[in-house]
Amino acid sequence: MKFNTEKVLDTLKLVKHPESGKSIIELGMVEDMEINDNQIKFKLVTKSSKDPFAKSLVKACERTLQFYLDEKLEVIVETKVKHFEAAAFKAPSRPLAGVKNIIGVASGKGGVGKSTVAANLAIALAKTGAKVGLLDADIWGPSVPQMFDLVNAKPVASQENGKTWIEPIEKYGIKLLSIGFFVEADKALIWRGSMATNALTQFINDGNWGKLDYIILDMPPGTGDIHLTLVQNIGITGVVIVSTPQEVALADARKGVSMFQQKDINVPVLGLVENMAYFTPAELPNNKYYIFGKDGAKRLAETMNVPLLAQIPLVQGIMEAGESGKPIALQTDHPMGIAFKNLAAKVIEQTEIRNREFAPTKKVEMNPNASCSTK
Ligand SMILES: Nc1ncnc2c1ncn2[C@@H]1O[C@H](COP(=O)(O)OP(=O)(O)O)[C@@H](O)[C@H]1O
Ligand SMILES: [Mg+2]
Repeated sequence: MKFNTEKVLDTLKLVKHPESGKSIIELGMVEDMEINDNQIKFKLVTKSSKDPFAKSLVKACERTLQFYLDEKLEVIVETKVKHFEAAAFKAPSRPLAGVKNIIGVASGKGGVGKSTVAANLAIALAKTGAKVGLLDADIWGPSVPQMFDLVNAKPVASQENGKTWIEPIEKYGIKLLSIGFFVEADKALIWRGSMATNALTQFINDGNWGKLDYIILDMPPGTGDIHLTLVQNIGITGVVIVSTPQEVALADARKGVSMFQQKDINVPVLGLVENMAYFTPAELPNNKYYIFGKDGAKRLAETMNVPLLAQIPLVQGIMEAGESGKPIALQTDHPMGIAFKNLAAKVIEQTEIRNREFAPTKKVEMNPNASCSTK
């Protein structure tokens, strides 16, 4: 037998009943556990035959056990009806309740420097004295472990009043969670959509983020399911869209802006960041080469009527700093450190304007078949 009952029950504590926010173990919903080699069988006891969550809880049990114990595990869950005392259920508390501002960093295309901007922005915000977290929501291509020199880091779980929390890892004063802490970055790519989404939802609901002024979300590129999961689970204060200046990237950035501005979603766009805006060789510091075209994102910002927050050049130092796990914003006297400091100041300013002028962003309630695309 590969797993004992205790380990299985412990893992199942991660599965929460959405109605109460309590784990199915705490609610006494798991009975008659049988474990054989690569098979786990148990009964899931629901309070009524019409528990709307029964089906998704069965799925969640399967996936959680396969994710944490063994991908090839056979999980057999039978549902059984039993009546609970109503008192066991109470309204779930709001996710990320202690976080004042949730800022998404998004892009139409991959490879435009979204993670670079997210990491450096988080660091530059923390340097202003703000309490900051960075949630790597790019579950298909996580880059936080590498950018923060944490490739072998493993977050630990903690318990409080029967709830299991995932403790973010703290580095450079930033609280960090990434799927990359749990699986190798290249393996994240082969995850099934639902598993990845589940893990992300857990980082949001069970991450012990505490009190923060800002949480930065490094979102996956494009306009897909993960974006929908995010806007459905949390009220995002605003988003920063990153684009490079060339036409193909701008077309996708435009789609990104429209998605967030769409009536049903309605997440304020704080502004655009033009990354790789120009290239300056180290030996010719006064020359600017507009290799991807000039001011593309600046013009897009003007036509879409959103602020241009920064134009960050293509600089070898930014790439090297990121790849070596010490983002350039840590060097406050480096010209690019200063560029990210200025970006942070702009983001703070736009967040303050946004919080003065608009009501808090609501979570998006949608029918399950709705899509997040702008078509
Ligand atoms: N302004 C920049 N100058 C130089 N290299 C950059 C810059 N922005 C990003 N990069 C590099 O480009 C690559 C892609 O950036 P990344 O932030 O991972 O993009 P994304 O998250 O959009 O896929 C990385 O190797 C990164 O170091
Ligand atoms: Mg990235």
